Amino acid sequence: MKFARYGVIAAGALLALFVITSSRALAHKGKHTPEQLKAFEDVFMEQVKIGDQIFHGDDATLKKFKVNLSRTGMACAMCHPFAADTHPYQFPKFQGSLGGFGTLRDMVNWCIENSAEGERIDPNSDAMKAVEAYIHWSNRAAKLDPGRH
Ligand code: HEC
Repeated sequence: MKFARYGVIAAGALLALFVITSSRALAHKGKHTPEQLKAFEDVFMEQVKIGDQIFHGDDATLKKFKVNLSRTGMACAMCHPFAADTHPYQFPKFQGSLGGFGTLRDMVNWCIENSAEGERIDPNSDAMKAVEAYIHWSNRAAKLDPGRH
């Protein structure tokens, strides 16, 4: 009898331990290997380089991604050298030019239409992701400060 009761208590304790440990939400279950980290970095830097080309108005890259960012020949980098004043760390935020609350991608498209006089691009396109990667990489030391100006 006594043994049976200890058995139940032990089983209960084990179950409780399992519930506690398994319910801890961990984003990463295991550590990435140095090889994996290098592969992630390579994928990111590849996008940064494409974004850099688009940002500087490289003809071949613009053609490849079928985007027309400017009718006047203005490249982003002419007004935003080294992605200056793009403020990726402030988004999402209220932007008077957008007439409300918007994202970095909204503002990239606003600038394409209004400053560079080009055609807005699909916010989920490969070109937009690459531009975003370049803008973020250029501002990588900045502290996140969403909502600020
Ligand atoms: C002719 C100059 C000019 C060109 C070309 C230009 N921009 Fe801008 N950009 C501006 C100005 C001026 C603002 C500020 C607009 C405002 O705050 O209302 C701005 C704002 C931005 C912002 C938002 C900054 C913030 O804090 O809200 C982003 C992002 C941006 N530009 C990205 C781009 C990208 C990407 C391109 C190329 C496709 C580009 N710009 C081309 C002049 C330019």
